Amino acid sequence: MKVIRTVRELRETMDNHRGQGQSIGLVPTMGALHDGHLSLIERARKDNDIVVASVFVNPTQFNNLDDLRTYPRTEEADCDKLRNAGVDYAFIPTVEEIYPEPDTRVFDLGPVAEVMEGAMRPGHFNGVAQIVSKLFAWTMPTRAYFGEKDYQQIAVIRRMAELEGFSFDIIACPIKRHDDGLAMSSRNVRLTAEQRAEAPLIRKTLLESVGMKETKSIDEVKRFVEDTINASPIMRTEYYEIVDSKTMQPISRWDDAETAVGCITVYCGDVRLIDNITY
Ligand code: PAJ
Repeated sequence: MKVIRTVRELRETMDNHRGQGQSIGLVPTMGALHDGHLSLIERARKDNDIVVASVFVNPTQFNNLDDLRTYPRTEEADCDKLRNAGVDYAFIPTVEEIYPEPDTRVFDLGPVAEVMEGAMRPGHFNGVAQIVSKLFAWTMPTRAYFGEKDYQQIAVIRRMAELEGFSFDIIACPIKRHDDGLAMSSRNVRLTAEQRAEAPLIRKTLLESVGMKETKSIDEVKRFVEDTINASPIMRTEYYEIVDSKTMQPISRWDDAETAVGCITVYCGDVRLIDNITY
């Protein structure tokens, strides 16, 4: 595996592989890698001749300075994991390399970016669009891979790609979980033992709510999920929305969407956890 630190080398290397007719799979990450990230890489490895993974904690998508400061940074361990996963190139740039001058672009992301994470974290999705559009333009991959753990993020990236004219495949990969159901996340390492033991309640409650679909309304299911999780002394829901999987807009009747997805954010102590489930 080769580590690339500059945009120039990334572009030249990718141009070279593309010129030889090789397919390129891109897996953008912010590092602190776990098996969730590695499942994306495994998929990219199967589909493509060349796999490039980026590791970059993107400051423009953090709307909370503390979150940016405390975000885990584990470059050496990340490189070992990427190498073992068969990645060809790890792109690990500095902030100055990515943003030699401030990125003032404002993307017209539309309704998919206005609800849920978009409403709770102003500017977050614009920052995601900034970094991912740069990675797309520099790499011009055959396919790019994203995890359904960040369900809304995929809808936003599809919108950005449409706006910018990127026509390659954007591939959504399933959520990787611990045995007790908790979705893998770089932020899980910040949970105390007590919080870690309580966190699987999120998945358990969402699974239970799927069985209620035939007999309960959307409002009743939402109330059940919120009440069950908030009954825990150490967890507090930030939002629970049941949305159309395509538009990300909340629905009020099950028939209003071909596929309904429930998206949740929970504070477990001060650690913000997200998860979702398809109904
Ligand atoms: P990060 O949180 O590091 O996640 C990188 C990719 O891994 C995302 O597509 C995310 O959805 C996926 N992922 C994380 N946990 C997962 C899990 N348990 N199962 C499956 N996939 C999982 O998301 C970002 O970084 C950034 O916003 C980024 C897209 C890199 C832009 O900076």
